[in-house]
Amino acid sequence: MTSTDSSNRRRILVTSALPYANGHIHLGHLVEYIQTDVWVRYQKMRGNDCLYVCADDTHGTPIMLRAQREGISPEELVEQMHKDHVDDFKGFYVEFDNYFSTNSEENRLLSEEVYLKNREAGHIAQETVRQAFCEHDAMFLPDRYIRGTCPSCGAEDQYGDSCEVCSATYAPVDLKDAGCALCGKPPVERESEHYFFKLGDFEEFLKKWTRSGTLQDEMANKLDEWLNAGLKNWDISRDGPYFGFEIPDAPGKYFYVWLDAPIGYMASTMALCKRTDRDFDTYWRNESESEVYHFIGKDILYFHTLFWPAMLKGAGFRTPTAVFAHGFLTVNGQKMSKSRGTFINARTYLKHLDPEYIRYYYASKLTSRVDDIDLSMEDFTLRVNSDLVGKVVNLASRTAGFINKRFQGNLSEQYPDDENLHEDFVITGEEIAGYYESRDYAKAMFTIMRLADRANQFVENNAPWTLAKDPEKTERLQDVCTITLNLFRILVTYLTPVLPTLSDKVAAFMNEETLSWDAVSTPYSGRSINKFKHMMQRVDPKKVAAMIEDSKESTPPSPAPQAATGKGSKKKDKQRNDTDDIAEEIGIDDFFKVDLRVARIKEASHVEGADKLLQLTLDLGKYGERTVFAGIKSSYSPEDLVGRMTVCVANLAPRKMKFGNSEGMVLAAGSGGKELFILSPDSGANPGMRIK
Ligand code: 2FM
Ligand code: ZN
Repeated sequence: MTSTDSSNRRRILVTSALPYANGHIHLGHLVEYIQTDVWVRYQKMRGNDCLYVCADDTHGTPIMLRAQREGISPEELVEQMHKDHVDDFKGFYVEFDNYFSTNSEENRLLSEEVYLKNREAGHIAQETVRQAFCEHDAMFLPDRYIRGTCPSCGAEDQYGDSCEVCSATYAPVDLKDAGCALCGKPPVERESEHYFFKLGDFEEFLKKWTRSGTLQDEMANKLDEWLNAGLKNWDISRDGPYFGFEIPDAPGKYFYVWLDAPIGYMASTMALCKRTDRDFDTYWRNESESEVYHFIGKDILYFHTLFWPAMLKGAGFRTPTAVFAHGFLTVNGQKMSKSRGTFINARTYLKHLDPEYIRYYYASKLTSRVDDIDLSMEDFTLRVNSDLVGKVVNLASRTAGFINKRFQGNLSEQYPDDENLHEDFVITGEEIAGYYESRDYAKAMFTIMRLADRANQFVENNAPWTLAKDPEKTERLQDVCTITLNLFRILVTYLTPVLPTLSDKVAAFMNEETLSWDAVSTPYSGRSINKFKHMMQRVDPKKVAAMIEDSKESTPPSPAPQAATGKGSKKKDKQRNDTDDIAEEIGIDDFFKVDLRVARIKEASHVEGADKLLQLTLDLGKYGERTVFAGIKSSYSPEDLVGRMTVCVANLAPRKMKFGNSEGMVLAAGSGGKELFILSPDSGANPGMRIK
């Protein structure tokens, strides 16, 4: 359905999936944001009233725990990350009309409305569930926070829901030696009252909705499988402590992050409407007044094509016009990898390379299908250099100089005969427009480059550098350059949704405010151009290599002071920096991974049969107690230690030792043996305080 405003412009609302607020934007994320941004820029260029909204996805257990580890509030964490995300998107010219947060009053109110309307309509059920609970951390544990031995293949240290080694899926209770991922202690089972969304109530509606042009065929087929398998109730509540919105009439219960995340699309629209004096209902209540499109990755299809439309329907809101899913990114044919340096953060990329390179490269690979795309660094370099620099920008650099120097910047008075090139380029524009509209950017880029080939052929055939040597050919020289620069202008106009900055530079060079799709049909003559300035550098392979190097994660060495844990496994000891050299440089993110806390040594004792170890009980204040085996027996008697304050690594995975589990590490300086000095904070520090 096409919904237009009074001036016949389509009214369109577009979203990209909301990035989690607990991590930085990387090149994998950017596939989607660039894909969406190109589509939105295209729609705006065609004169449609198109809005692009997004937000940070801020709620849930991982964000709560990360904030705890960093010793800050979740609000502080999400605020900082919001700033970083906004900067990263800006760096890649991803231009939102509003970039919001799910931790906002608008989102709270809308989440409550969606929930309460569904409840009134009878779509919410209550059930008692049994779930893993960590008594030490006083919280229910999400499946990902339980680790243990896979019941299927016996691999150790696997998640509570699936095994990374054999891919088996199971319930956390099936894991052998299950332990809390935070403290290592075995969880217990506890009952809790949960709230469920009755997805099955929407089966008939969803069957129709998924086949009404809302989904790509591959996705609709996938959905059929799910619909045929039967729709189960969806657990939309979580017990506190949880960073999120409390459920109305259910103290201590919170909306599961996936309930309020997509509602963030509406909240962001609402904030935008308030700021720009628009009507929220036009976008979210009245289906005939606007089109709503979601761009997402294929991994979150279930949420966007089952739960989301059903929740909207149940609450009396409109449902999306379509959901567009894309595939994953691989780099050099493999999953992105920190050790190979192919897990590239947005800001690392920007330190080395021009954002328009990757915008073009992604565009040249993206289709309307759900296929994965590969970023091959070699292909990236070759393609950008050959297409953008070699075929497009080169057109101007080969001809603008003649117009500037020989004709005082003036193009031919009349647009010359050009063997119908201009007309063909204009006609092909509609084909290119169709490719943009259907998100087939690869075809759009391919078609633009075929036009660029024709323009270059024209330059070769007419050799302006030869014409320039013949005084009788002066007029022809001006005509050939005028034609070439017109073709160049059309090509860059068609590339504008992908390369907005190049487009601005070309507009300035050609004395235009912006390059507009409508203007290409009128040839450009009898006007002057500005001095040609360099518009795009070639991709330098050395910079690509430097970016990869910069993205490689070094193995984090142990903290510089010698850590006193007793003997660890050989494998782990190999990673330690046991020389006196300053350890390899690490980033602040690496440092933040190590959670150093003030601890009071509550008890200390000899360990029978161990000649180097003392057993310590550490008091971490509100974080409980830890048992640690420390190799400091030669330097301290147990009684000297009791009551002392020290520093411990609180998030070290528990290590099984001959004498029991060691649940942390006490920091000490010195070369070992008798020369070991445990670290103590200044007076005033209390157990549990984070060291930063
Ligand atoms: O998968 C993710 O990264 C989620 N943060 C996406 C949420 S999209 C929407 F539903 F909010
Ligand atoms: Zn625990």
